[in-house]
Amino acid sequence: MPISSPSRVHELPADEQAVYRRLDAERLPQHVAIIMDGNGRWAGKRLLKRFIGHQQGAEAVHFVVETASRIDLPFLTLYAFSLENNLRRPKTEVNFLMRLLRSYLGSNVQRMNDNNVRIRYIGRTQELPSEVREKMQWAEEETARNTGTTLTLALNYGARSELVDAFRAIAEEIRDRKLQIGDIDEQEIQRRLYTAQMPDPDLVVRTSGEMRISNFLLWQIAYSEIFVTDRLWPDFRGVHLLEAIEDYQRRERRYGGLGDGSESDDVSSLPANSVLVPR
Ligand code: FPP
Repeated sequence: MPISSPSRVHELPADEQAVYRRLDAERLPQHVAIIMDGNGRWAGKRLLKRFIGHQQGAEAVHFVVETASRIDLPFLTLYAFSLENNLRRPKTEVNFLMRLLRSYLGSNVQRMNDNNVRIRYIGRTQELPSEVREKMQWAEEETARNTGTTLTLALNYGARSELVDAFRAIAEEIRDRKLQIGDIDEQEIQRRLYTAQMPDPDLVVRTSGEMRISNFLLWQIAYSEIFVTDRLWPDFRGVHLLEAIEDYQRRERRYGGLGDGSESDDVSSLPANSVLVPR
């Protein structure tokens, strides 16, 4: 059994402690995934260039990761760069995001080590520029021995292409007679996703108010709770992560079943085609 490390909750700033005290520490989510949106709007509201919004967005990442590590959240996944961002944004913005990622990794590995955070990635990362991949690999190796929060950055990520990659892997195994068609079930698909080593997200947070999933973890969020805030990503802090968790804890997860305390009606004697609701 792993020896649990001492709690770091006392390191939370006062406003975060106040929210944390309202949480049920026994029912913290295991995995929170965040769609970080609104960098451009944050900059636009201040008549600043979009890249300043991205810079502030990278700062927000550090604050949220630190809070996650202090409450010992096992998995935090951040949608940092989608396949669609890569294909549809101007080259200058994509290049800036790549430079920002390198600089974020370069200047945050020490902090990750101080916070016992391990970094990893999901997405078609092999398509990213080589100098970015080198930095990513370096950061992953430097933090590999940490045992606290696993921070996963989704980079050049798209959920549909993740599924395509999984189905291709399965097809190759069938071709090579390592797998039979009858063996394919949900578990076999899950094992071939980029997220095979982590639990599905309990909670998905999206900033800046859009009610969309934007091709993020489509398979994995089948039963996730979704929390959307109007706050723009550069303004998002650890206290807002804790508030999202508080909201999550107020919900009842049913996984398609009935909630606690609801009893199934005995309908065995009723004809299935009659109108049951009095008008
Ligand atoms: C959405 O803002 C955000 C992104 C395109 C990527 C997220 C990137 C960061 C938070 C910064 C870099 C991250 C790391 C890990 C270094 P948007 O441009 O779509 O905003 P808008 O919808 O308001 O235009």
